[in-house]
Amino acid sequence: MPIVRHTRRLLLACLALLVAGVAPAQHTLTGELPKPAGLAGPQLVVVYGATGRTGRLVLQELQRRSDLAVRAVARDPAGVGGLQPLAQWVEGDVTQPATLAATLRGAAYVICTIGATDRSGPNSPEFVDYGGVRNLVDAAREAGVAQFVLVSSMGVESGGGVVGWVLNLLSGDALEWKLKGEDHLRQSGVPYTIVRPGGLTDKPGGATGIRFQQGDQGMGSITRADVAAVVVAAVGEPAALGRTFEIRADDELAPGAWRQSFPSLKADPRPKP
Ligand SMILES: NC(=O)c1ccc[n+]([C@@H]2O[C@H](COP(=O)([O-])OP(=O)(O)OC[C@H]3O[C@@H](n4cnc5c(N)ncnc54)[C@H](OP(=O)(O)O)[C@@H]3O)[C@@H](O)[C@H]2O)c1
Repeated sequence: MPIVRHTRRLLLACLALLVAGVAPAQHTLTGELPKPAGLAGPQLVVVYGATGRTGRLVLQELQRRSDLAVRAVARDPAGVGGLQPLAQWVEGDVTQPATLAATLRGAAYVICTIGATDRSGPNSPEFVDYGGVRNLVDAAREAGVAQFVLVSSMGVESGGGVVGWVLNLLSGDALEWKLKGEDHLRQSGVPYTIVRPGGLTDKPGGATGIRFQQGDQGMGSITRADVAAVVVAAVGEPAALGRTFEIRADDELAPGAWRQSFPSLKADPRPKP
């Protein structure tokens, strides 16, 4: 029922608000395979969720990284239209494990910004934010990727209070399934970074500071553009490896100062076997 889905999306968007220029390209998004280790040249980053509202901004932000070549994954690449025509688009569906290996061939890095599109059924959080992330992490381990950057959510550990309770109710327990997806990644042996944004908005990025925090305390909001900037900065950043952290807008911090925040992050405790 499209009207129900739209109403639910609207409610989720309102809830997100409650909790609360692309630079000239230095290279084209050719999707070239990374050069063998030890040789200079762009390394391949594969972006899952590239058609999404955050994923599109990740693709834009990646144009600033001349050290990275980009492959974008969509469930229906033919339907992508004019979205980032320079990117190499390939087909992949995280609920279909057999589709994943080919998308990761030659990949050094994975960025995952996927999110369930339905409250129940095969595209619900259970099968996308948990099952899908699990499938993608397992495929990334097989492919030997150097870093898996996962966009999760603030509130997955704390529950997010009343807001989180309502969000779970509306979304099909998205926060709970996202935590299971995170746990699978932390236990997988794949080098990782987990970024947990507060409620997402579509305001322009770079207007406020961004606070990095750990321990899943409190709530907040952040623009999707700022999430994309943090995620792309985390790629290949040694101080981001093995870290789970939350991000939210903070007017008291200088815009851009967050770029010095990675070294302050504490490594996650070793997962229990
Ligand atoms: N909304 C909030 O306030 C909020 C707060 C914190 C965190 N988050 C999380 O932040 C992330 C980005 O959110 P967003 O609102 O920017 O996302 P979005 O616009 O809803 O995009 C979701 C993306 O996931 C992809 N996807 C869904 N199912 C898939 C599957 N089976 N296989 C491959 N791709 C699949 C979609 O691809 P298609 O084009 O094929 O559908 C789309 O690109 C999500 O994980 C979201 O849960 C959201």
